[in-house]
Amino acid sequence: MEEEFECCCEGLPLIGDPAPEFEAVTTFGTLRLEDYRGSWLVMFSHPADFTPVCTTEFIAFTEIYEELNKRNTELLGLSVDSVSSHIAWVRNIEEKLGIKIPFPIIADLTREIATRYGMIHPGESKTETVRCIFIIDPEGILRAMIYYPLTNGRNMDEILRLLDAMQTSDENKVATPANWRPGDAVVVPPPSTQEMAEERMTEGYECVDWYLCKKNL
Ligand code: BEZ
Repeated sequence: MEEEFECCCEGLPLIGDPAPEFEAVTTFGTLRLEDYRGSWLVMFSHPADFTPVCTTEFIAFTEIYEELNKRNTELLGLSVDSVSSHIAWVRNIEEKLGIKIPFPIIADLTREIATRYGMIHPGESKTETVRCIFIIDPEGILRAMIYYPLTNGRNMDEILRLLDAMQTSDENKVATPANWRPGDAVVVPPPSTQEMAEERMTEGYECVDWYLCKKNL
């Protein structure tokens, strides 16, 4: 009998789905998701402009901006504040801290994009977006989502690490183990037949057993 289950997230984008299209007012003018075709995109939301944790995050995102670009990756921020508020905040960051924010920020005043992407988690805040990260690939497919609460800033190393891991998986048809870093051994995908399971034990991989084999790239 086919098992029936209730979907938890009807209407919300899930990993592997095409990322929802949008046309947005941003600090760099109007931008659409399709403008990012051919590049990876890290789209993130923050709760509000002129708040302390968000300011530290904007500095940290700026610090990894070049590293993101080396990975063919663009950065796009979003909150439900107005474009005037975004402009005033990025000017204030430049004036007080000498840091120029190099990426656009969506002003989602109507919350249309935030709602479509599931960025508002009412148990945390009914009005602000939580700290979401959506990683979208060059074909527009949503490949990863990470969520943080309002109180805690994100880890930029993990964003770069995950991008490296996903790009390595795509290029080499492999998986990556926990805490993987570029240069570490990768996981050979599990065999799908008994014959493949037997073969892999003789292929020179570093195997714990037939289901857990690693190799160096
Ligand atoms: C902050 O960025 O500092 C912050 C924003 C919203 C709620 C709590 C903290």
